[in-house]
Amino acid sequence: MRTEACAKTFGGRTVLRLPPIELTPGRLCAVVGANGSGKSTFARLLAGVLPPDGGGIILSPSVKVRYMPQKSYPFRLSTRSNILLSGGGERAGELMEALRLGHLARQRATGLSGGETARMALARVLSRPCGLLILDEPTASMDMESAILAEGLIQTYCAETGCAVLLITHDLQQARRLAGDVLFLYQGLLWEQGPAEKVLFSPERPETRRFLEFYGGGGERP
Ligand SMILES: Nc1ncnc2c1ncn2[C@@H]1O[C@H](COP(=O)(O)OP(=O)(O)OP(=O)(O)O)[C@@H](O)[C@H]1O
Ligand SMILES: [Mg+2]
Repeated sequence: MRTEACAKTFGGRTVLRLPPIELTPGRLCAVVGANGSGKSTFARLLAGVLPPDGGGIILSPSVKVRYMPQKSYPFRLSTRSNILLSGGGERAGELMEALRLGHLARQRATGLSGGETARMALARVLSRPCGLLILDEPTASMDMESAILAEGLIQTYCAETGCAVLLITHDLQQARRLAGDVLFLYQGLLWEQGPAEKVLFSPERPETRRFLEFYGGGGERP
């Protein structure tokens, strides 16, 4: 599937300007870049919750999208009911157990901790198949064990449903573990893209190398 070229301007400042981007079914594409580089804005345009400059949509409406925003807002219902809102009844129980939410099923979701809320939001998006799954820093507030559980579930979901996954992450080790492809955004532009092997281990552009160096190891293989 291919996204349309798009741009987004807020108050006269263009924060995103992207060419068409190809996303491959059954493959995970990681989006990396500094704070403010436009990652979440891209996710929101793709999910259709924010219109691009000039209006319209940037992805064919025939693609069923599921989206986990960077900040999840729970409804004032139980954790279980929040997950069931997705309509994926059969898988919901299974996912709740897998994400260690079973003991919180009856608790009101607005009282969950940050990491618990993220686990709930992930269970919600993974409970039904889709064509494109957009995850905006899904494990940023999770503890290490939960993050590893979440990664396994994301991989299984991608393999079983054959959907394309767009994973925004600041965790480059996570990108190295999961991604087939990588997009590096820099100041709202698509600065470098390609197979994860290439972009994360031997990037072409100095800005990408500099970004990777902050995370330790630079472009070298672990
Ligand atoms: N609703 C808005 N109004 C004004 N500016 C906005 C709005 N949404 C985003 N921006 C600006 O657009 C730029 C890109 O924001 P975005 O949230 O896409 O960054 P990001 O790459 O997701 O960053 P982070 O790593 O912090 O999540 C930022 O400079 C932000 O201030
Ligand atoms: Mg963001």
